Amino acid sequence: MMPDLNSLVRLKGSQIKPAAEMLARAFQDDPLFGYFFPDASERKGKLPYIFKFLIRYGVCYGEVCATSPNLEGVAVWLPSEKADMALWRVIRSGGLSLLFKLGIKSILRQMSATDYMFSIRKRHTPFRHWFLQSIGVDPMFQGKGYASTLLKTMFARTDKEHLPCYLETQSEKNVSIYQHYGFKVVEEVTIPGTEISHWAMLRERTS
Ligand SMILES: CC(C)(COP(=O)(O)OP(=O)(O)OC[C@H]1O[C@@H](n2cnc3c(N)ncnc32)[C@H](O)[C@@H]1OP(=O)(O)O)[C@@H](O)C(=O)NCCC(=O)NCCS
Repeated sequence: MMPDLNSLVRLKGSQIKPAAEMLARAFQDDPLFGYFFPDASERKGKLPYIFKFLIRYGVCYGEVCATSPNLEGVAVWLPSEKADMALWRVIRSGGLSLLFKLGIKSILRQMSATDYMFSIRKRHTPFRHWFLQSIGVDPMFQGKGYASTLLKTMFARTDKEHLPCYLETQSEKNVSIYQHYGFKVVEEVTIPGTEISHWAMLRERTS
């Protein structure tokens, strides 16, 4: 039987905070967040705010699924028409409070890097698609197939809709995992002003 999204847990409001805390743990050693917040304890304190916003945005405008109510793994998917974070959508998702929580220095770093990544995405995806905004598995559950469940379940839907999927990663070890699912690297760059490698990956639509 093909997996479908109903076999996963669609996140509810009360699960946003614990899911954000889990994603913060998963991304603690991520190179991009390491650049935004070089100090590890500051990063640990601030990542939950970022993921709270991203998850809330996904709940409002896309699909946010977890492997079970225990939140071993969570994925945030956005349809391309909502992946461009317009100001009013950001405000509705509680993004303005990030300005106060994260500090102007890190916000400016993030805006510069995300604008650059956005320009790459625009160039490679002038068509409808699903954007894998975030996926993370709690470090204690990694390597046990939870990401696989999240990805395969969503691909059953995107394949049915004949829509491509796009994602970005700054971690080389993730590239081969995504290739395993049919993603191809469409661009590999170093984010200007940083030493961070950035891979843009596309999983083409099935016919
Ligand atoms: C990346 C991440 C989400 C993977 O989650 P996970 O639950 O450990 O992954 P899984 O155990 O489900 O493995 C995923 C698949 O990749 C395959 N895989 C694992 N390592 C691989 C490698 N080096 N090359 C190719 N395939 C690989 C696995 O076999 C599995 O496929 P299968 O189910 O078809 O056998 C997790 O490590 C994580 O949260 N990392 C930190 C946050 C992060 O980097 N998120 C992604 C940002 S783009």
